[in-house]
Amino acid sequence: MGVAVKIRGLVKKFGNFAAVNGLNLDIEEGEIFGLLGPNGSGKSTTLLIIATVYKPTEGDVEVHGHSVTKSPDEVRRLVGIAFQEPKALWVDNPYELLVWHAMVVGYSFLDARRAVREIMEELEIWEHRGKLFSELSGGTRKKVEIAKLFLQKPKVAIFDEPTAQLDVTTRHKVWDMIEALKEERRTIIVATNDMAEADRLSDRLGIIYKGNLKALGTPAELKDRIPAGDVMEFSIEGQAGEHLLAALSRALNTERVNLTNGTLKVYVNRAEEKVAVAIETLSKMGVKVRSVSIKEPTLDDVFFYFTGAQLREGR
Ligand SMILES: Nc1ncnc2c1ncn2[C@@H]1O[C@H](COP(=O)(O)OP(=O)(O)OP(=O)(O)O)[C@@H](O)[C@H]1O
Ligand SMILES: [Mg+2]
Repeated sequence: MGVAVKIRGLVKKFGNFAAVNGLNLDIEEGEIFGLLGPNGSGKSTTLLIIATVYKPTEGDVEVHGHSVTKSPDEVRRLVGIAFQEPKALWVDNPYELLVWHAMVVGYSFLDARRAVREIMEELEIWEHRGKLFSELSGGTRKKVEIAKLFLQKPKVAIFDEPTAQLDVTTRHKVWDMIEALKEERRTIIVATNDMAEADRLSDRLGIIYKGNLKALGTPAELKDRIPAGDVMEFSIEGQAGEHLLAALSRALNTERVNLTNGTLKVYVNRAEEKVAVAIETLSKMGVKVRSVSIKEPTLDDVFFYFTGAQLREGR
């Protein structure tokens, strides 16, 4: 599989402020790519450039080989975007809006009406079809916005915070629908601040911070890159002194070992490979282990780590 979206030296300035600041990134054909980053880090700006809504200040983006600066019309045929903030066009009820959108992306009038009804029923917004856009709840507006992409099924589908504001049942449904789009060999980009969503959906993740890429990899790879990000927790019986902590620290090659109220915590990488050595060391020193648990870092921890915040203690 090739590269679907190739971002090179991308800069976007608003006045003197660089919202995107020299971004390089390849998004592979057929993957679900999660874009993470703190508020204001440039996620939406980047997506709007890929979708040709904004022009780059410097650098370029190619979508299946077509440049957003040189051939934006070609790019528009390949890309669809569901905006973070849904806006109504001049057509102001959801049904008309979606039928109009479906026809713009190539459906016949009859097919458009059939497909729109189907998707509105699936997202449980059919009953709202005749309301004014301005009367819709936030979640319903969001559903109308993402419905556009499920109708269009573009080669590159961009979802900017697809499930913000959606109830938990609909969130799961939308995740399933996004995965079904991938099965139809679409490339999908999802910007999100929801770590559960990113973890569940993404084949690979990019974390951007102040308009620059800070980390790139699969969720599992990024979790492994946090130094001593796993915690092994032992509930122990008997005396344990400094010499025990020192022995563990040596055996497991980690500085971070601590004991409070009979709970021993050891911070390592790849805990699953080290737990046996830890238990052996403890038993050699005459310490009885009552229970063991391993906690891997969550994507929250990954996010904190790569955006410069501290890992939470006491996990
Ligand atoms: N049209 C604009 N004019 C001026 N500044 C803008 C404009 N659009 C975005 N910005 C600024 O660019 C920066 C990046 O914004 P962007 O919307 O890309 O962030 P984001 O990562 O999507 O954040 P969020 O998580 O809040 O959606 C912000 O500081 C924002 O204020
Ligand atoms: Mg945004």
